[in-house]
Amino acid sequence: MNFNTDIFEQFDKKWALLTAGTENSFNTMTISWGGMGTLWNKPVVSVYVRTSRYTHDFMDKNEYFTVSFYPEQYKQILGILGSKSGRDMDKMKESGLTPVSVSGSMSFKEAEITIVCRKLMKQRLEVKAIPEDIAKALYEGEAPHDMFIGEVVEIIRK
Ligand SMILES: Cc1cc2nc3c(=O)[nH]c(=O)nc-3n(C[C@H](O)[C@H](O)[C@H](O)COP(=O)(O)O)c2cc1C
Repeated sequence: MNFNTDIFEQFDKKWALLTAGTENSFNTMTISWGGMGTLWNKPVVSVYVRTSRYTHDFMDKNEYFTVSFYPEQYKQILGILGSKSGRDMDKMKESGLTPVSVSGSMSFKEAEITIVCRKLMKQRLEVKAIPEDIAKALYEGEAPHDMFIGEVVEIIRK
């Protein structure tokens, strides 16, 4: 079996945008935690969103979300979208990305791959169930993460 693939680096090294909402009201943020796999006989993506993120509100309110990946040249923009909140500013104006509607959700024209997901479940990552060193490093005085699992309904390639 050959596990020599960069699949595990997609989120960690390339980062992605997590977007939820529809044309008139949506938000996006940078993520580097996520997974792709199989659950309930379906291809799924899981993402982990702190409850404090503005995007979390959109994940709660919408049935669909997208995870999109970008060429290296957009990394600086992803940095901005991962450090400023849509609560405080017009992120879209600042980023210069071009929003596009996809089935039930939103992505951006500049994406090389957009994975469209139908939300299947949300689950809190309970701090008491997490190893102490990780809990100390990531959750002391910080909002918890909710895991959202979505069924992959479409993969859009440029
Ligand atoms: C490289 C990178 C990866 C990130 N990954 C995550 C993540 O997986 N989950 C999360 O909740 N926040 C993550 N963030 C932080 C959010 O992107 C950041 O707080 C963002 O400003 C939230 O925007 P919003 O309030 O408009 O939703 C990441 C930030 C960066 C720069």
